[in-house]
Amino acid sequence: MKNIAGKSCILTGASRGIGRAIALRLAAEEVLVTAIARDEQALGELCAENPGIHAAPCDITDEDGVKRITTEHVERHGGLDILINNAGMGTFGPLEEVSYRDFLRTMEVNAGGTYLCMQAALPHMKAAGDGDIINISSVVGLKGYPDQAAYGASKHAVMGLTRSIAAEAAPAGVRVRAICPGGVDTDLIRQARPDLDPGTLIQTDDVAEALIFMLKMSETGITDFLPIRRKGSEPQL
Ligand SMILES: NC(=O)c1ccc[n+]([C@@H]2O[C@H](COP(=O)([O-])OP(=O)(O)OC[C@H]3O[C@@H](n4cnc5c(N)ncnc54)[C@H](OP(=O)(O)O)[C@@H]3O)[C@@H](O)[C@H]2O)c1
Repeated sequence: MKNIAGKSCILTGASRGIGRAIALRLAAEEVLVTAIARDEQALGELCAENPGIHAAPCDITDEDGVKRITTEHVERHGGLDILINNAGMGTFGPLEEVSYRDFLRTMEVNAGGTYLCMQAALPHMKAAGDGDIINISSVVGLKGYPDQAAYGASKHAVMGLTRSIAAEAAPAGVRVRAICPGGVDTDLIRQARPDLDPGTLIQTDDVAEALIFMLKMSETGITDFLPIRRKGSEPQL
């Protein structure tokens, strides 16, 4: 397993829920985190308690904001080792009741924001010949669920982005993967599935733990159908 202490990371959606748990877990591993979300107060409180976390208030659909934060992170840390696209939202209900505007906003945040953050980060990782991108997708990105068409489409899009950029970035030594949790005990699931018993839900710390495991896994521990370039070797098909 790799040591990730001293690495630097941009993490979106760090103000609450799964993202906050990931930020705290990364800080415990001594990873230097730039934490993105819109809620400045929540980010401020997170950073006040954890000096290794830097607040970067921004909406991830703000292309200029995402570029600026990425550039500033690279200047602050001399590079960017890890990007975690966790920020997300949902609009839920039967197709007839979810407006097209809400559909587009869900796509814009979940798929568009992931796209913009990867677009800003990838050149730095490619130049370094190393890096990890982990997108927090969902089981809803793999299967269809009633009353989740907009959210489901956006998470399927996140899977498409993950698979495409994984293939595109692998020859440069950059690993792009997704985590697809089921119901996790956060504000979002209470909105999406008020019918679920909270006692049956995954805990945010468990998702954070899975992510840390993925980051620590050695390069040879990752197998895929994609051509993976091990450092110093030719691409393997
Ligand atoms: N909870 C589940 O059951 C579950 C299951 C599978 C996958 N997921 C995924 O896990 C991720 C985190 O969800 P969660 O359950 O922790 O939800 P949450 O508690 O509602 O947190 C969502 C986070 O995303 C941020 N965010 C939302 N829109 C944003 C925007 N436009 N720009 C920047 N940040 C934005 C929020 O911060 P601000 O409001 O401060 O901007 C917040 O930090 C999402 O991608 C979600 O789809 C959740």
